[in-house]
Amino acid sequence: MFTDADDANATSVRAWRDRPAGHQPDWPDAGDLEATVAYLRTLPPLVFAGEADRLQREMAAASRGEAFVLMGGDCAESFEEATASHIRAKIRTILQMAVILTYGASVPVVKIGRMAGQYSKPRSAPTETRDGTTLPSYFGDAVNGHEFSRPSRTPDPRRLVEAYQRSAATLNLIRAFTTGGFADLDKVHEWNKGFMANPAYARYETVATEIDRAMRFMLAAGVNHESLRTVDLYASHEALILPYEEALTRVDSRTGQPYDCSAHFLWIGERTRDVDGAHVELLSRVRNPIGVKLGPSARPADVLALVDRLNPEGTPGRLTLIARMGASTVQERLPALVEAVRDDGRPVTWVTDPMHGNTISASNGMKTRRLADILAEIRGFFSVHESLGTKPGGIHVELTGDDVTEVLGGSEEIVEDTLPARYETLVDPRLNHQQSLEMAFLVSEMLRDVHL
Ligand code: PEP
Ligand code: CO
Repeated sequence: MFTDADDANATSVRAWRDRPAGHQPDWPDAGDLEATVAYLRTLPPLVFAGEADRLQREMAAASRGEAFVLMGGDCAESFEEATASHIRAKIRTILQMAVILTYGASVPVVKIGRMAGQYSKPRSAPTETRDGTTLPSYFGDAVNGHEFSRPSRTPDPRRLVEAYQRSAATLNLIRAFTTGGFADLDKVHEWNKGFMANPAYARYETVATEIDRAMRFMLAAGVNHESLRTVDLYASHEALILPYEEALTRVDSRTGQPYDCSAHFLWIGERTRDVDGAHVELLSRVRNPIGVKLGPSARPADVLALVDRLNPEGTPGRLTLIARMGASTVQERLPALVEAVRDDGRPVTWVTDPMHGNTISASNGMKTRRLADILAEIRGFFSVHESLGTKPGGIHVELTGDDVTEVLGGSEEIVEDTLPARYETLVDPRLNHQQSLEMAFLVSEMLRDVHL
């Protein structure tokens, strides 16, 4: 359990306030913000230290190639879409992908939703101008509204409380779905119900049939293990809005250590990974497993400095490096980073984010990505690790369980003309349900090659 004591460990979590903090909203009233932080501090933790520790052990297994991480969800969750049906569809997609990966490659899959707290976004420009009116950019539902009007775009700390409440409700549903029978491997066929026939689904049905046969065999042989009925699905988000993360940080009475109890896993974005900055400072103080995004400008010295700050003792599973280089640069940029970390010797878990280095504008101006580029970056990531003798530890992807049309390509092909049909994302384009399954099949083949 957690203590509310304002002891040395709890106070140390405030140290970020003395550092430059990038990408923080311009809150109109500092007093309101502090009152909200004080209120959030009184609310219960959303996750527990023991769960974060368990995830850290699983991330450590992934760093050694003994497990594979699947992290996925929306670029930005919205309050409006925090409904049972959207959440269920996302969970189902992640579980289906995990089944494909586990079955295809025979490795345990560590499942992490980019969910239950992914409510804020760094933006390339702090303001947006339309027809001569300039307003703050949309920073995610935890900060302001997407609608382009002054009342909606003005940052409002009450939204942080709503983000907490939506996260709590989402986590509750995740816990119910993953332990209450929905994740039962007996049900792998049911997850596929209601989808029209197309190559990715047909292939999934074949896998599901094989799993059914294996399940019947195990039942007949007397195996009825709990792990076939429940799964762990952890929650993660970018630790961007520092007052919120500070407010949810609690000292675990068991160990006396602070944990950021807003999620099991937190990451630092590409734009806020300054080694002397506030984001690195805050996450250096909490005991959760954490990640840092690395874009093509990252140099080996930057990465080693991050390892020094975030995992000085080399605790396995503590630090995940999430490379998002772009399909055309991954083979050129990633090797020097992987080599530097390998030679340093402190373990990290290498994960690929094949989304953020591959964003393009369609000819109609819509922000999109090509599935082919996404897959090419994953292939590049695997091949870098193969040539350096290191382990590809997982993938971090933006996806939804719905049939949106935001990413180009796929076997039910989305082309530029069909992008507007169901383009629903508030920020970055996401793989739809079918594209997600297709990707899982291809990754399971790459992973099988690693494990053979
Ligand atoms: C994101 O994950 O949505 C994001 C903004 O990524 P990055 O920090 O890698 O640009
Ligand atoms: Co994104």
